[in-house]
Amino acid sequence: MGMFELRELSKEYKRGGRVFNAVNRVSLSVEPGDFISVTGRSGSGKTTLLNMGAGLLTPTRGSVFFEGKDIYTLGDKEISFLRNEKIGYVPQGQSLLSNFTVFDNVCIPWFLFKREGHVEGRAFILLEKVGISHLASSYPKELSGGEMRRAAIARALINNPRLLIADEPTGDLDVETTAEIMRLFSRIAQEGTAILIVTHELDTLDHGNKTYSMDAGNLVPHTA
Ligand SMILES: Nc1ncnc2c1ncn2[C@@H]1O[C@H](COP(=O)(O)OP(=O)(O)OP(=O)(O)O)[C@@H](O)[C@H]1O
Ligand SMILES: [Mg+2]
Repeated sequence: MGMFELRELSKEYKRGGRVFNAVNRVSLSVEPGDFISVTGRSGSGKTTLLNMGAGLLTPTRGSVFFEGKDIYTLGDKEISFLRNEKIGYVPQGQSLLSNFTVFDNVCIPWFLFKREGHVEGRAFILLEKVGISHLASSYPKELSGGEMRRAAIARALINNPRLLIADEPTGDLDVETTAEIMRLFSRIAQEGTAILIVTHELDTLDHGNKTYSMDAGNLVPHTA
């Protein structure tokens, strides 16, 4: 079994009395070091898929296995702990807490489960890695969109996750910054963390080792 495995995952939603599968029987296996990218049109089910994978949204059918554990059989507390410890998540859109500095935002996942020891050094290194250490004491509202995304990436990495899930982490960024962030993801993958991202077609060219697209809830592998 893969380190992270989606098995026949489906999510049904209802709209206007009609039931539809936003995600339709998706299976995917992810190993350490994988860099997997998913493209697809707006509304095709990408965020729904990532949210189920991250333990944030209960599937209608199917399972998510993380290191051999079926995560939706775990209790709320266990699932939160697993997510906090093993899965870094960069949500779509702005997700920083506005009353905290960039530095404190990055540290929050560390303190959620009352960890001992010093996180400050690691937070600073991550901010340097994503290129915004000069903004450590700024507040989110003083940042550009790209800077906020980079802060969210640093935050997702603070607990040294086994898997990093990112939902359009480069949406609305310029080409150069996008390439920089893709290189950063590549490096992280090479260091052994698996990467699963939703992104635009061209962004992962030269980077992702497995690419898929979502088409009306179906995950379709790209063939070279
Ligand atoms: N809570 C909900 N209730 C009903 N329908 C929903 C719900 N959440 C999402 N949907 C619908 O499910 C489909 C998939 O949504 P999802 O957010 O996964 O798409 P996406 O591929 O991430 O789109 P985008 O690229 O715009 O972010 C869409 O048709 C959306 O309207
Ligand atoms: Mg989305």
